[in-house]
Amino acid sequence: MSFGLGHGRSLDDAPGVVGISRAELPPLPDAALSDPNAGRLDPRTWFHHPTRPFEIEIGCGKGTYILAEAAANPTINFLAIEWAREFYLYAADRVRRRALPNVRVLHADASEFLQWRCPDAIVRTIHLYYSDPWPKSRHHKNRVVQDAFLTHVWRVLIPGGQLRLVTDHPDLWVWYQSHIARWSAPTHAPRFDLLPFTPPDWTDDDELVGTNYERKTRAAGRPPNACVLQKPLP
Ligand SMILES: C[S@@+](CC[C@H](N)C(=O)[O-])C[C@H]1O[C@@H](n2cnc3c(N)ncnc32)[C@H](O)[C@@H]1O
Repeated sequence: MSFGLGHGRSLDDAPGVVGISRAELPPLPDAALSDPNAGRLDPRTWFHHPTRPFEIEIGCGKGTYILAEAAANPTINFLAIEWAREFYLYAADRVRRRALPNVRVLHADASEFLQWRCPDAIVRTIHLYYSDPWPKSRHHKNRVVQDAFLTHVWRVLIPGGQLRLVTDHPDLWVWYQSHIARWSAPTHAPRFDLLPFTPPDWTDDDELVGTNYERKTRAAGRPPNACVLQKPLP
């Protein structure tokens, strides 16, 4: 059975099933410049059970969150996207060792993946935890959360779907809040509802998402801020 990864590969061809490299994605066609749908593919087909709920983690680092969340929710499919090659390889290796059939790890820029590859209304939740703060003003353009990013988040989420945000960086939190204020205003179209963040059941009492970064930042005494943006139901 082919899962659209190219090279006639199947899910039984281990290793190399869990991790998906950039080279395994089909080339982005020139037509994508005039037709946004031309480059889209359906990442749900990379899983054994493609019709199950589908979630994405952006910047999974070493994969601690996705491992715990996927083990706790075996009937949900999780795609972890990581652009740093060493972390992508590390996280994919951990997924393989844990033999989690409901996780794939993609080596890519998550913002580009959402923009060019991800079809409309297929994602239940997007997890973005401890994203790089890019503190210098001239680097703010590198932050993951941007208006264009939120446009694509809104597009790829199913109605009722959520973007979950956690950061320990005060300036990045201010950046999030200014975007959220606009995107949750009654006059903004499209818009999100702003909800409180609830940690998963499996986290410890003082944790929000239990990632490597969170454990380090807690130890350093930097409390995180968190919230949820929800695409409204029709
Ligand atoms: C500060 S680390 C946090 C990692 C993990 N979420 C945690 O809490 O331990 C941020 C991660 O996001 C990754 N990253 C940043 N921007 C990205 C992007 N546009 N697409 C994919 N990964 C990205 C970085 O390579 C890094 O591994």
